[in-house]
Amino acid sequence: MEKLPGIRACVFDAYGTLFDIQAPIARLAPEIGPHAEEISALWRRKQLEYSWLRSLMGVHADFWRVTGDALDYALDQFGVSGPGLRDEIMALYLKLDAYAEVADALAAVKARGKLTAILSNGSPSMLKAAVRHAGLDRLFDMVLSVEDVGIYKPSRRVYRHAMQKLQISDAPSVCFLTSNTWDAHGAATFGFQAVRVDRFGLKDERLPGKPAALVKDLSGLAGIV
Ligand code: LAC
Repeated sequence: MEKLPGIRACVFDAYGTLFDIQAPIARLAPEIGPHAEEISALWRRKQLEYSWLRSLMGVHADFWRVTGDALDYALDQFGVSGPGLRDEIMALYLKLDAYAEVADALAAVKARGKLTAILSNGSPSMLKAAVRHAGLDRLFDMVLSVEDVGIYKPSRRVYRHAMQKLQISDAPSVCFLTSNTWDAHGAATFGFQAVRVDRFGLKDERLPGKPAALVKDLSGLAGIV
């Protein structure tokens, strides 16, 4: 794959890109019942929808609240309840594992002298817990949350926030990595060199902004930046 020119920083989406978000429901599947997989997918879809809808409505709430509301919707839709189950699932969201190649990929990028950061919808405490649980603390120069901006991705304000924090003034020197199709288009439209991490076999969206590269996972990252 061709090298992306002039990259100074690699900025990563968190959930689904670094951290495996399917694990909580999978782990509790016996308690959740036969619709566990559908609940997991609906939970994620509602979580994102609520983030976008709240951004449009101008009624921000942090990602912990949005994630909980989305889970409540998904469980309710499939008629699943049970004492403590909801809280158990939410607690696992703070203890997500990183995908297998993530730590090595980050170390290799840092060894090439690039800045590394997370830019996520997650609230600061959610991100802190996930990064710590996965043992990635020392591999990031910065962990940035949309909470500093009060609106969700793909608002341009969020991507701009990362540039300000990283003290980078030209957007194309940021490589933004995400497994979210819509986030890749958002970041590319903003001006980052977006790399879509295709963990789920998805097509590019019919949206503005063309991702600069498509990779299967993060293992070859150091070779393209
Ligand atoms: C994030 C979600 C949207 O980490 O994946 O921002």
